[in-house]
Amino acid sequence: MMRYGVDLRRFNTFGLPAVAEQYLPLTDLAQLEGEEFRQAPDLVLGGGSNLLLLEDLPGLTVHVLLSGITWSDGKGRFRVAAGADWNQFVRYTLERGFVGMENLILIPGTVGAAPVQNIGAYGAEVAEFITAVHAWEYGVGPVDLSPADCAFGYRDSRFKREPGRYLITAVSFDLSTPRALKLDYGAIRGELDRLGIEQPTATDVANAVTGIRRSKLPDWFLLGNSGSFFKNPVVARSTYERLLQTHSDLPAYPIDEAHVKLPAGWLIDRAGLRGQGNERVGTYDRQALVLVNRGGACGRDVLDFSKRIQDTVAEQFGVQLEREVQLVGGM
Ligand code: EPU
Repeated sequence: MMRYGVDLRRFNTFGLPAVAEQYLPLTDLAQLEGEEFRQAPDLVLGGGSNLLLLEDLPGLTVHVLLSGITWSDGKGRFRVAAGADWNQFVRYTLERGFVGMENLILIPGTVGAAPVQNIGAYGAEVAEFITAVHAWEYGVGPVDLSPADCAFGYRDSRFKREPGRYLITAVSFDLSTPRALKLDYGAIRGELDRLGIEQPTATDVANAVTGIRRSKLPDWFLLGNSGSFFKNPVVARSTYERLLQTHSDLPAYPIDEAHVKLPAGWLIDRAGLRGQGNERVGTYDRQALVLVNRGGACGRDVLDFSKRIQDTVAEQFGVQLEREVQLVGGM
């Protein structure tokens, strides 16, 4: 049922204030046949964990609350409604003995939002497991997109590049193929050693990832945030080599012959901005890539501070940081 003048503060993990003029919970696929879905709503809200709300929102906000996990074949095939909680789904697969999702535990947000930015952590990305994305294409009707149609990239997909074309209703996953555990992300082995585990199971890896995340990333219930605020920038190898001359400990992940990915958190940290900010907004003191709402921040406060970070990093390192969070309003 449509509601009017709904405060979205508790529907975004940054805890930013914004009032939606019209707010419609989507709980049933039959609603998509209605007048409201002939064209894209002004905002489609999932778990609200990757948003920067800049102001009150005129027009229609749709909150995707479609729920349910279908585990049809007893093997590893799942079809999950878009409004299901991502982390609950990860736990559901682990409890049933499937390997694959353990590195992606504890990521906030919904299953429907996962393909939009191709969520990833500790050496895994959701795109590896997706067999289809089920969506409502405005003006067309229900469609199924193959992984190739989704055009997945690092924190990127067709859904991000063509906002306003699809509303994701469900996602299908395949965990039936046997997979090796991914332990190469440095901190995972360290955490398993700390826990005294030599032959880890998927659940052990999930526990290790849980430990790492809890030590580095703030709980949004306690300190509003949207995870990584910027993407890790991909730069030319020549840029990396230039920076190495003055910063011999600069970490880098190879992409291809000509490019490497640099950790934005390291750049922000070395620019002297870890734990900095003002009374309302700042960088988290244990992970500079995460901007936090220290209390009473509005979207503009966060945006202004993020621009200061971009300018400082560009000045000091000649590297441009690109936002990862989705800006809403204020265009
Ligand atoms: N670092 C610092 N100082 C900091 C932060 C990081 O020196 O304040 C250094 C670390 O020591 C490390 C490197 O930077 O050498 C990378 O840091 P970290 O391992 O914490 O990972 P990240 O590159 O900052 C990415 C993802 C995270 C994901 C982690 C683990 C992006 C934009 N972020 O962060 O994803 O959890 O790797 O895989 O790719 C998210 O997207 O919201 C998110 C949290």
